[in-house]
Amino acid sequence: MTFVVTDSCIKCKFTDCVPVCPVDAFYEGENFLVIHPDVCIDCGLCVPECPVEAIFEDTHLPENQQHYLQLNAELAEVWPNIIELQAPPVDADEWTGIENKLPLLIK
Ligand code: SF4
Ligand code: F3S
Repeated sequence: MTFVVTDSCIKCKFTDCVPVCPVDAFYEGENFLVIHPDVCIDCGLCVPECPVEAIFEDTHLPENQQHYLQLNAELAEVWPNIIELQAPPVDADEWTGIENKLPLLIK
């Protein structure tokens, strides 16, 4: 099992999830974060920290977010680790609540 970052994180990237992770399981792209499935210990601490409710347990992923399981695993292998809170993008609030942002993901 693992937890998975999904669509609503794209272009929001608030990073509130990062400092609570006891095993530093987050990896950072330009406008999205992912969780490394082999590092995540399934504690669930990051879930309530995300202001846009982007994080789900893999077994409870919404039907239209299933592809994020594989995407997290793939990108966590190539993106750098992130361990500290960062300022979000200046326009993060404008992208809050917007759906289907996958075409905007920068890999
Ligand atoms: Fe880290 Fe726990 Fe979230 Fe997994 S569920 S990414 S271990 S805070
Ligand atoms: Fe993304 Fe939410 Fe973390 S927006 S960076 S999953 S706090």
